[in-house]
Amino acid sequence: MKSRIDAIRLDFQKLLAEAETQPQLDEVYRLFLARKGQVAALYKEMGRLTTEERPEAGKLLNELKGELEEQFNARRDALKPKQTATALDITIPGRVPRLGREHPLKQTEQRVIEIFTRMGFTVAEGPEVESEYYDFDALNTPFWHPARDPSDTLYLDNGHLLRTETSPVQIHVMEKRRPPIRIIAPGRVYRNDKPDASHSPMFMQVEGLYVDHRVTFAELKGTLLEFYRALYGPETDIRFRPHYFPFTEPSAEVDVTCFLCGGKGCRVCKQTGWLEMGGSGMVDPAVLSGVDLDPEEYTGFAFGLGLERIAMLQYGLTDIRLLYENNLRLLAQF
Ligand code: DAH
Repeated sequence: MKSRIDAIRLDFQKLLAEAETQPQLDEVYRLFLARKGQVAALYKEMGRLTTEERPEAGKLLNELKGELEEQFNARRDALKPKQTATALDITIPGRVPRLGREHPLKQTEQRVIEIFTRMGFTVAEGPEVESEYYDFDALNTPFWHPARDPSDTLYLDNGHLLRTETSPVQIHVMEKRRPPIRIIAPGRVYRNDKPDASHSPMFMQVEGLYVDHRVTFAELKGTLLEFYRALYGPETDIRFRPHYFPFTEPSAEVDVTCFLCGGKGCRVCKQTGWLEMGGSGMVDPAVLSGVDLDPEEYTGFAFGLGLERIAMLQYGLTDIRLLYENNLRLLAQF
């Protein structure tokens, strides 16, 4: 019995040392330690021994079994890391997550805020659902003004409407604060327009307001010139065309040198060399009085620019609807 045990031990150790893979390990287990393996066979043979021989043989056999199991487990554990390493193929190309990005309109808004912030303006906000008072009355807009018509303005219940411009933010700010006031107010506005290449029922404006002692039209010009040069480059020029807005007097529309042709005239500027950007003017004394500011003491300038216009020129887009269609293939280009 003793020599059989020693022989099995040697066989086992040789095969175990050679085993490199799980199937080879399984085979060793099957040959020696499984229910029909060699160790089990020896236990069966114990029946044929004499009563005197049996205790000694049993002890040796138990020792053998313990030893073999221990060695087997050690070998199995030693092989484990290697096997997981072969199961993981680190040469397979990884999955690259698709990166999101800011919408071009948002990028333009950030850029505009950045430039005006540098000039000392802070950002103000107002509600998109307004009363007629803030959107029209407080802005000196007479009851008969065509902008008030439901064919232009989207009315809600009991005197409310979707703001048609960011100008009512001027009123909210002046009601709450005293000059010096220097704010811009970017935000969504709404009009009863059918969508086409240059119209969207919802679009964005940036309002500007500066009120203090002795604010002049020259400062309005300087501020907007500075803004457009920061935006489109130092060669950029602006011009003012007389216009009418209820809440400013005098009022002017602002044109900017066409960034594409540099003023020579091209398709984008319809050969004029100029692009129309928005409205501006000196805050009407009636608007100042309406918020309890003495027009004898204070003056101010205001402007309202279309944000889509700025973005479209910046990115070379010819249709405003592209900014609202959420077409990822287009948006991924900016
Ligand atoms: N609110 C005007 C519009 O939507 C734009 C505008 C013109 C705003 C002149 C102003 C301004 O602040 O002074 O057409």
